[in-house]
Amino acid sequence: MAARRPLIAGNWKMNGLRADGVALARAVAGGAVIPCELVVCPPATLLAPAAEALSGSRVGLGGQDCHAQAKGAHTGDVSAAMLADLGCSHVIVGHSERRTDHGEDDATVNAKAKAAHAAGLIAIVCVGESEADRDSGRTLQVVGGQVEGSLPTGARAANTVVAYEPVWAIGSGRTPTPEQIREVHGHIRTTVAQCLGQPAADAMRLLYGGSVKPGNAAEILALPDVDGALVGGASLSADDFLAIGKSCP
Ligand code: 13P
Repeated sequence: MAARRPLIAGNWKMNGLRADGVALARAVAGGAVIPCELVVCPPATLLAPAAEALSGSRVGLGGQDCHAQAKGAHTGDVSAAMLADLGCSHVIVGHSERRTDHGEDDATVNAKAKAAHAAGLIAIVCVGESEADRDSGRTLQVVGGQVEGSLPTGARAANTVVAYEPVWAIGSGRTPTPEQIREVHGHIRTTVAQCLGQPAADAMRLLYGGSVKPGNAAEILALPDVDGALVGGASLSADDFLAIGKSCP
């Protein structure tokens, strides 16, 4: 099986003015050498100054969303090519906040991931069940369906990462049990194998996201089929984000 290098991605969401963003990016870039890959995903307004602050470092840059089209009359949107042009290597697509706030469905997410690939970006494709889905015993069905619907045919380990983020764990301080994370990640890998073949599934990185903190990162990152984390709130502190990075096995 191909080795999967752990990836810790920080999703800053809609946080930070220029001075904060530059200071945070600089502090992450200046952190001690970490045994995994680090990527930060600032809001669109901070991508250019963050790119400058990260230049020469080994920390990658990602967008939080992209449009499915390469260009055109889409007021307020940003294309994958524009992100790549600013120095991004990654883009998050299908985050639950986009699925909820902007009504994005699997087909939209699939098209955005495809656009990311066309621009040479690695798509971080987010999936995750709601609390009602989990309470009704539908977690594996819902998450498996999102994986099937959201991964475009050209997805492979080199251009795609899947992030499992249970909606009820995001920003809540609650996390699934290790057994629940293990079960869902195993199911995601099986589903990826059915969609894209076993070699792609074996090599693809699966991140866990939802209330990852320095205090719980080591336990989560040590689980089988967990190849990193997508971190929200804790990524706004360079110390916490780097501490999570240092927890990689
Ligand atoms: P929190 O780490 O704040 O729970 O957010 C997780 C998330 O949504 C990352 O994309």
